[in-house]
Amino acid sequence: GAPVEVDISKLEPGQLIRVEWRGKPVWVVSRTPKMLEQMKEHEGQLRDPHSQEPQQLESSTNDYRSLRPEIFLAVGICTHLGCSPGFFQGNFSEKVEGTDDGFYCPCHGSKFDMAGRVFQSVPAPLNLEIPPYTFLDETTILVG
Ligand code: FES
Repeated sequence: GAPVEVDISKLEPGQLIRVEWRGKPVWVVSRTPKMLEQMKEHEGQLRDPHSQEPQQLESSTNDYRSLRPEIFLAVGICTHLGCSPGFFQGNFSEKVEGTDDGFYCPCHGSKFDMAGRVFQSVPAPLNLEIPPYTFLDETTILVG
C-alpha cells in the first residue's frame, strides 16, 4: 500500500480524524495538555505502560508513544479480535474512574488510554499498534 499524506493544519485540540492506510483505519489525534497529564496518572493500571512487548515499533516506546507529544497516531483496530474502539472524549471516566479520555472497544470491553495503551483486566492483550509515520512539515504527516 502507498503511504498516505495527512493534513493536520485544521486539527483542533482534542479532535480525532480518521484516515485509511493499507485498508486499515488510522487515527490522528491532537492531544490536549490535560490528556497528556492524565496519561501519567493511570500508568499503574496499564498492562504494558512502557510498550515493552516485542512487537511494538521502537518509535512507539517513549512516554507518549509518538514523535510529538501532542500528536498521536494509532491503528484503530482492537488488539483482541479486531473491532473498532470508540473515542470517549470527556466521558471515559464511566469506563475508567479518574480518566476523562480514552478508547473503548464495544465488542468485549477493552479499554485503551490516550496513547493506545491497554488497561489491565480486559481481553485485549496488547497496546494499539502505532503505524510508521514521519512529519513532512509542521502540519503534514506521511503515514507508511
Ligand atoms: Fe475489542 Fe474484543 S475485539 S475487546
